[in-house]
Amino acid sequence: MDPGATQPTEDATPTAVGNGTVPRVRRALEPRYYLGEEPLRRELETVFARSWQYAGQVAELAEPNSYITATVGDQPVLVVRTEEGQLRAYRNVCRHRGSQLLTGEGTCKRALRCRYHGWTYDSEDGRLLGVPEHRNYAQLDKGSLGLIGARVEELAGFIFVNLDMDAESLAELTEGLGERLARYRIGDLVPFGAKGVGGSQPANWKIVVENYLEGYHVPIAHPGLMRLLDYQNYGVETHGEWAWFEAPLRDAPSSNRLERAYQRLARPMPGLDESDSKVWRYAVIYPNTAIDMYPDQVNVWQIMPAGSSATADRWACFRQRNPGPVTRVVQRINQRFNTEVLEEDVDLVGAVQSGIRTRGYAPGPLSAREDAVGWFADRIRADVDPA
Ligand code: FES
Ligand SMILES: [Fe+2]
Repeated sequence: MDPGATQPTEDATPTAVGNGTVPRVRRALEPRYYLGEEPLRRELETVFARSWQYAGQVAELAEPNSYITATVGDQPVLVVRTEEGQLRAYRNVCRHRGSQLLTGEGTCKRALRCRYHGWTYDSEDGRLLGVPEHRNYAQLDKGSLGLIGARVEELAGFIFVNLDMDAESLAELTEGLGERLARYRIGDLVPFGAKGVGGSQPANWKIVVENYLEGYHVPIAHPGLMRLLDYQNYGVETHGEWAWFEAPLRDAPSSNRLERAYQRLARPMPGLDESDSKVWRYAVIYPNTAIDMYPDQVNVWQIMPAGSSATADRWACFRQRNPGPVTRVVQRINQRFNTEVLEEDVDLVGAVQSGIRTRGYAPGPLSAREDAVGWFADRIRADVDPA
């Protein structure tokens, strides 16, 4: 369909471009949300400190006493699999003089011991267990000096944390998403390839997320993707706290050799069927987690602010255990595609960051293909500028 040919309405049902749904009117964020340090300062409080943030995947916390650390906005957090098998999350700080407790990832003891003066905490419940030379303290109320908690939840094999102890549960907020992710059996997948922090894009984190949230730029900016995807049927759905994209692959062989190889060789991972090898799916969990679901692998991206005009991206790739040689080739090709698309996107988001500061600019209208950009803008406004 041609989204531009239909009349906009205020309250259409979730948009699925390509399914004939009438577009709704939504507004992109005004430039003031992206410029200067003040918006970011507010977002750290109103968005990052209250939302569910990707922390890792269950294979990284499979064993008792295994732990990972993460940064939520600008706040350090640790997640541990306790001896009892529970997931627990805490702010990654010692209550004595503020040393970070754990770094990186690995295995710890049940009693978490601060490297500075040796205060120890029970990873099971955060209780302060021991203080060296405790008689030397004039005051020491051990009962009030446990670790500061954070919320932790698993969603379809991914682990998320929330700094807000009163936050609504992730399962409720993302109702409907878990079942869709489940067919990818993410909990059974294992990390592969280079992972980590390091990637940075030259734009405000919201510009990077918004770029992920629409396929409207694909025909113009991603020629390789355009050869692979059935763009006319690129579907967009927005829900309360998450968005979903379906990008069917074209049947016609690409003119590019590598792309043809991918089309020919991609096979569905365990849990998926043949039809799943003909579609790429993407999910975004508000505010900054993106999950790419391919027939051959699942990637996760977390877009973190690094100041107001750059990001620190965290990303990781997961695949089935012991993939065969053909699947490994397919995965390598997929990584090539991803690297190329990322380079193209880096260029785009940098151009937006440079452009939006132009005096006299106000955001133009959004296409139905950009419905999720409007969804994101509405969510940000609701958090940052509640009425
Ligand atoms: S800062 Fe942790 S024991 Fe002193
Ligand atoms: Fe893109």
